[in-house]
Amino acid sequence: MPDRVLITQPIDDDAMALLYAGSIPVDVWPGPEPIPRRELLSRVVGCAGLISMLTDPVDAEVMDAGPLRAIAQHAVGVNNIDLKAAAKRGIPVGHTPGVLTDATADLAMTLVLSVARRVLESDHLVRSGDWKGWSPTLMRGMELRGSTMGIIGMGRIGTAVAERARAFGMEIVHHNRTSGVPLDELLRRSDVVSLHCPLSPSTRHLIDGRALGLMKPTAILINTARGPVVDEAALVGALDDGVIAGAGLDVFEDEPRVHPGLLATRKAVLLPHIGSATTTTRRRMGRMVVEDIIHGLRGEALKHKVNPR
Ligand code: DGY
Repeated sequence: MPDRVLITQPIDDDAMALLYAGSIPVDVWPGPEPIPRRELLSRVVGCAGLISMLTDPVDAEVMDAGPLRAIAQHAVGVNNIDLKAAAKRGIPVGHTPGVLTDATADLAMTLVLSVARRVLESDHLVRSGDWKGWSPTLMRGMELRGSTMGIIGMGRIGTAVAERARAFGMEIVHHNRTSGVPLDELLRRSDVVSLHCPLSPSTRHLIDGRALGLMKPTAILINTARGPVVDEAALVGALDDGVIAGAGLDVFEDEPRVHPGLLATRKAVLLPHIGSATTTTRRRMGRMVVEDIIHGLRGEALKHKVNPR
């Protein structure tokens, strides 16, 4: 009897077909809401493989309940997985780097353009019937050419965003743990600050009230990384008090809950964590996790193994 695999959300059909072609028994949590903890703990019993989502806390209890022999995360970020516990148990963990770079960078630029050019406010004005006609002073926003984009986390996605921003005539500065300008300098100089760092204890609330206070009052903040990198309550205060001009957010501190202050302000564009949500990218992600879980169950090396930290 082949080992069983638990998938905590339905994934791309082609990827599922690949899994079924391997005659592997599969249990799929139907979604669309994340699998509740008690369901995860009961359904994982007897499963050797887990295809997890970024919404699932995968800790020692889950690993031992299987007991799991392989984990493949349907995301590039793995902050929801206890990698130390996996390493201690010899459980390989795979993820989906590379294939979602362009989709996520495109979405970051979508947010930059939407906030800089006040797209939501303008759309609302037209729909409301309050638009009185063309005016030289109507909805003036930020010109991207000649502006400075500050990228925090110049990895694959940060680099792809920089490439796009350069095409719009923006200057680029970046901050990494080991390269680029100091964080405070980046915050002071940038017209757009775009976050692309992983969530870790050192990046949680990296953008707090102090950091926001260093930004220009005309600057905008873009987050397509992980919600907790930004102190959401501090961001609401900064937007309300005019400390910064706007924000474009695809991720939130406590998804799917969104701070009421963000819901109330027109200075923020809010998206439901869709950075990698193109059909092509989700198909590639699906294939990657299925391939990795099949390799893992066979005891072979995962192609997309998370590097030990
Ligand atoms: C990731 O892969 O980490 C994204 O946030 C999910 O699309």
